[in-house]
Amino acid sequence: MKKQFLIISTIIIGSLTLLSLTSEKLLQEFWEAPAKYQKMVNPQLNNADADNIGRTLYTKHCKSCHGTKGKGDGTKAKSIDTKMPDFTNAAFKKQSDGSLYYKTYIGRDDMPSFNKKITDEVDQWLVINYIKNF
Ligand code: HEC
Repeated sequence: MKKQFLIISTIIIGSLTLLSLTSEKLLQEFWEAPAKYQKMVNPQLNNADADNIGRTLYTKHCKSCHGTKGKGDGTKAKSIDTKMPDFTNAAFKKQSDGSLYYKTYIGRDDMPSFNKKITDEVDQWLVINYIKNF
């Protein structure tokens, strides 16, 4: 009886260790914005963007990689090793505006940082509003 218990516990502990190792790997690839940014409030949430600034800036700076409809199929996307995100999927839409702000203006690796190219704070948020609507 004691021996069986030992075998079963070894199996359980072993599987848990394996599981935590694999989920750590998944976490490494997952891109999470720092908490400070996640909680950031979008000051332009109700800006209707009558002049289509968000779309104009997206077309100029983002479309080449992220594609016209945000599917990640722009002309430059093929030459990028990193998996392109799809702005139309539910997981993308679940992210807070602050997270999207961080990823756009701080960036990482193949996703360039845009804080020197789009400097006006209102414009910055209008781009975020635009990519949320694909
Ligand atoms: C040179 C190609 C390229 C351009 C140009 C580009 N991106 Fe990206 N973008 C990427 C890649 C590649 C990723 C995935 C990065 C990763 O996961 O490490 C990404 C990821 C993102 C993400 C995070 C998506 C997620 O769910 O984690 C956002 C938001 C984003 N881009 C917004 C923009 C915006 C807005 C612009 C234009 C101002 C832009 N990108 C221009 C290549 C590009």
